[in-house]
This record gives sequence, structure tokens and C-alpha cells, in this order.
Amino acid sequence: MKETNLQTKEEILTSALPYIQRYEGTTFVIKYGGAAMTDEALKESFAKDVTLLKKIGINVVIVHGGGNAVTDLSQKLGMETRFVGGQRYTDTATLETVVMTLAGSVNKEVVALVNRAGGNAVGLCGIDNNLLTAKKYAPKGYDLGLVGEIEQVNVEWLNKLIASGVMPVIAPVGVSTDGQIYNINADIAASSIAQALGAEKLFFLTDTEGVLLDGELVPTLTNARAQQLIKQEVITGGMIPKVNAAFEALANGVKKVHLINGAARHSLLLEIFTHEGVGTQIIREEKVFGNPTKPKIGYRSSDAAPVRTHSKHDLLDLTVMTKQDVEDLMHLTDVLKHTDVKPLTGKHVTLLFQKPSLRTRVSFEVAVSQLGATSLYLANEGIGLGEREPVADVAKVLSSYSDCIVARLFDHNVLLGLAEHASIPVVNALTDFGHPCQILADLYTIRQHGKLEPGLKIAFIGDGNNVAHSWLEMSAIYPMHLAIAAPAGYHPDPKILEYANQSGISTIEILDDPRVAADSADVIYTDVWTSMGQEAEQVARKKAFHSFQVNKGLLQLAHPNALIMHCLPAHRGEEITDEAIDSRNSVIFLQAENRLHVQKAILTTLLASPEANFFQKEEPSSFIPLKHDEEPATI
Ligand code: CP
Ligand code: NVA
Repeated sequence: MKETNLQTKEEILTSALPYIQRYEGTTFVIKYGGAAMTDEALKESFAKDVTLLKKIGINVVIVHGGGNAVTDLSQKLGMETRFVGGQRYTDTATLETVVMTLAGSVNKEVVALVNRAGGNAVGLCGIDNNLLTAKKYAPKGYDLGLVGEIEQVNVEWLNKLIASGVMPVIAPVGVSTDGQIYNINADIAASSIAQALGAEKLFFLTDTEGVLLDGELVPTLTNARAQQLIKQEVITGGMIPKVNAAFEALANGVKKVHLINGAARHSLLLEIFTHEGVGTQIIREEKVFGNPTKPKIGYRSSDAAPVRTHSKHDLLDLTVMTKQDVEDLMHLTDVLKHTDVKPLTGKHVTLLFQKPSLRTRVSFEVAVSQLGATSLYLANEGIGLGEREPVADVAKVLSSYSDCIVARLFDHNVLLGLAEHASIPVVNALTDFGHPCQILADLYTIRQHGKLEPGLKIAFIGDGNNVAHSWLEMSAIYPMHLAIAAPAGYHPDPKILEYANQSGISTIEILDDPRVAADSADVIYTDVWTSMGQEAEQVARKKAFHSFQVNKGLLQLAHPNALIMHCLPAHRGEEITDEAIDSRNSVIFLQAENRLHVQKAILTTLLASPEANFFQKEEPSSFIPLKHDEEPATI
């Protein structure tokens, strides 16, 4: 029993690690209000939570409310409270009570609370050093008196305070350039401050779990959905300004906004450090692969004309992905590796394979099963794609039974045809032209070893084939020095080379000498000389490639810690020697393992509904470096 408890604790601690790495050095703005400000136990847990965040390197800025305290004091003083259009009218006397309470007693109480927990809080209001410059808020048809709207945040000074190691606790009171003090809505103040700081996250602590629909928490909310729920009066009252302030923050650089229940203990930590979260997160838009502004190209191996390939969320090649997409995918991979979740429950994936496969087939089948979906493997002999019946008909029929087609085909054009006629996502599980899923897993492997950084040199030794093509596509996303050494006549397709060069992202060299490519490389990558479908050329290829073997001599030219990579299957003794595959610098079997983790992220990104909250909830670390032997290769 005791051991199980410890195990659980250990799991909790280690599952938080990716999030800690991800958020270190970033800024979180927290709007503190409601029950979390009045209940003693909740106050304590809030103070501990923000202190913990600060201690692990997150810059925390608190903006607090305190409307009840203002009302209480006004009543004690026998003052009348006037409401205009449902909002408090701030006359001169009310403003005095606002300053006395918000910038006075309430602010100091929060500061004392946080400091008792060790949080180094410093109390401020918007008047201090013109932190919040404001002007009179004048909505159409209302006069709210001395209520202000923020014109400017003294962000330079705020950043200096943060850099000095303190936690600013800000009362929402502003001042105009001519010295008039204004009462400011705390939600709007928090949103403006988060925007000015370019905060990673903005939290609103409310007294409900978040946005509720039929009693159920809505975990993720886009603007379109929020406006719909406001119309349907699902989102009402005080939640409306919060939701609107959230979208304004998102439109102006804040990465994510969370509405969480301040009335539940440690909701802040649970929202940040668990995948499931406990509140509603407000996001910009539904996430899909591909930036619509990015020029897209398609390839036809037999026809030079570009074709449209990405009308829906297919993964046919890597040109559909932006750097952010790749980063998101890797973060999601981290999450799915550490979490047992089933975002694809009820879905069905069809695997349609014209060529043999071990890794791709098994990793997709296992990924599907681990994500809660079902799959069916169809070998082409039984289907006769384009022979027994047209590709378009197969696409339409499979679309009516399943939710995704993962296809391994010879001709890339057939894949394009399949995608064009399928109404469900199509994933390229390898064609003669490209192997995008492989390269995504390979990039993840490189990142695991801490090598995905500026200056990365990848030497691709061997055939300018499908795998090399996908590396070229990746070089148009991630900056790298990609040196491809291949014998004359076996260079990559000039069209894709041109695409990669035109992107201007990476340095690309096509070389005839593997030794030049390998020189000081951080990664030595190879693939078979004879790919599936080229068996008739085997003898000629062996001859042409004989000096392109990855062996001890070649590896000695690379960086001593260079990773040795191969997508597998390998023809040991041809493109790579046993000692290279089995050397301590080889990450070849980890590449194979990572196919599973990355396939899970690919399928989740393409198939999980936004409400399932998977491709948004994420974002743990940029990478968790593996311990890799620092000693030079021994071969
Ligand atoms: N690397 C790879 O795609 O392996 P399989 O051909 O076995 O799927
Ligand atoms: N280039 C190889 C890759 C195998 C994963 C092939 O197409 O056979």
C-alpha cells in the first residue's frame, strides 16, 4: 500500500516535469478573485500554488479584484451604491473607498498572504509609476462615473520588477496623464497586463469550474463557440466580460487563457501540471496542420505540374506543416507518452498497404489501439487499388466506414488521388516519393538527444529517395545544414530540392562524396540503396553505391558524439555495417520506438475532436534530453 502511494507520488512528480521545463522563464498573469480571496483554506492553497510556480522559475503576476470589500466598506460608511446598466457607478466618494480597499487593505492582505508562503510579493496599484495609464471609460449610452479603461501599461518597469525577483500583486486602479484616478475592472486589467507582458498564460479564478454546458465542463472554447454560447445564454453574467477579455488577450499575443475554479483547492496547479486540466481553456482556433498562408506544393513523380494536395487535414507530405505544427506535434508526443488517454475512442482507422512494413504498420496499429480506436489492415492484394476498382471509389467507400486512411503506396499520385476523393484524413505511410511520418519521428529522436538546435548538421548518405525527400521537406521547416551525399544519377528529385532551397530556411548541399557530407556532422543518416519496388535495379545500385557505406571510416569524420540513424529495415553490410548499427552512438532502435509515440500524436492531431482537448491542452517541454553517452564512438 505504502509502495503504491509512493509510486503514485513519483508518477505525479515526474509527469509534471515536462510542464516545468516548458514554462520555466515564462510569465503567467493570474486574476485573483471570488471565493479564493475570502475562504481561509483557499487563500492558503492559492498562496502556496503561486509561490510554487515562482520557485520553479515561472514569473507570476497577480491582479486582484475585491468588489465585495468595496461594497462592505461603502455600507459601513453608510454610502449608497448606484448601479448603471448592471455596473457599479463610481462617484468621487466611491472611488475613495475603491482606492482605500483595493490599493490598500485588500492589496496588502494578498501581499502578506503570499509572503507568508515565501512568494516575495510586492503590492502595487496602477497609480504607482503610472503602471496603468487610463482614461474615462465611456461605453455608448452609459456614464459609469470614474471608471477607467487602460491606455498603456508601464511594461518596462513591470519587467524590471519581475526581473528583480519579486512577484507583483496589482490592484486594478489606474491614473490618467493629468492625474485623475480611475476604478478599473480587474478582469480587463489582468488581460491588458497579460497582453503588455506577452504572457504565456492568463488565468481567471472564478467561482465555477469554468464554462459549463448542461452541467458539463467545456474544456476548450474557441471564439466562434463562445459567441454561440453567449447567444444561447449558456455563458451569462460576469462570465461574459471574462470570456471577452480572454479573447482580446489571445488576439494580442497571450498564448492561452484559462478559466478555473478558484473555489477548488490547488486548481491552479492541477490546470497547469496535468494534461486533463480542471477548467476551461480559451484558445484561438481549432488546431490543424498547416498555416493557410504558407504556400503549398504538391508533387507528381511523373508530371512536373504542382497539384493541390491539402484540401483537408491530410498528412501527405511535410510541406503542409509549419514549424509551430512540428513543435506542437512533438509536445503532444511528450504528453501522450506520459499519459494513458483515449481521445480516439469510437474511431476507426483503415491501413491500406501496397508494400511490406514492420514498423509503420505495427506502430500505427498499436497507436490506434492505445488511443482507444480500432483499425483494420488491408493488404492491397485483397483490394486491387486502381485495378479491381478505381482509386476514387475505394476512397469514397472507405470514407463511409472509417475515420482515417493510413496508406503505404508506390505511386505518390495514387495517394493524392486517394486524398482528393476521401472525405476523411489520409496519412502517407510511405510512397515512392516521401516518408513524412518517419522524418517526424526522426526529428523527435534528434530532439530527445538535445541536438535540435541551431547549427545542426545532418549528413544523409545514400539514395536521394523518399526518405531523403522528406528530410528536404523538413529542412524547409527547421533550420539545419543538410548535406546529402549520393552517387550521380541518384540525387533527390530536383523539384523538391528547389522547394527546399527556395524556402531559405536551411543550408542544403548535394554532394558526390560521402566524406565531405560526414565532415563534422551531428547526425549520420542512411537508408537502403534499393528501396521497395526497385528490386530489379539491385545489382546496378549495389555497384553505384558501394563507396557510400556508413562504416567506421566515415563515422570518424563526423562529430565524436554524432547520432547514427537509419529508418530501417537495414541491409546490414551494404549501406551500413553491423558495428555502426550496434555502436553506442546508434539511436536506430529508438527511432523505431519513436514511430509509435509520434504516430499517436499524428493521429490525435488529425482525428481528435477539439472538445477532446488534446492538441490544445498540452505543451509540456520543448525537450527532455536523454542521457546520451558523451564519449566518442568506439567503432
Ligand atoms: N521505417 C519504416 O517505415 O519501416 P517499415 O517499412 O518496416 O514500416
Ligand atoms: N527507402 C526505403 C524506406 C523504407 C522504410 C523504401 O522505400 O523501401
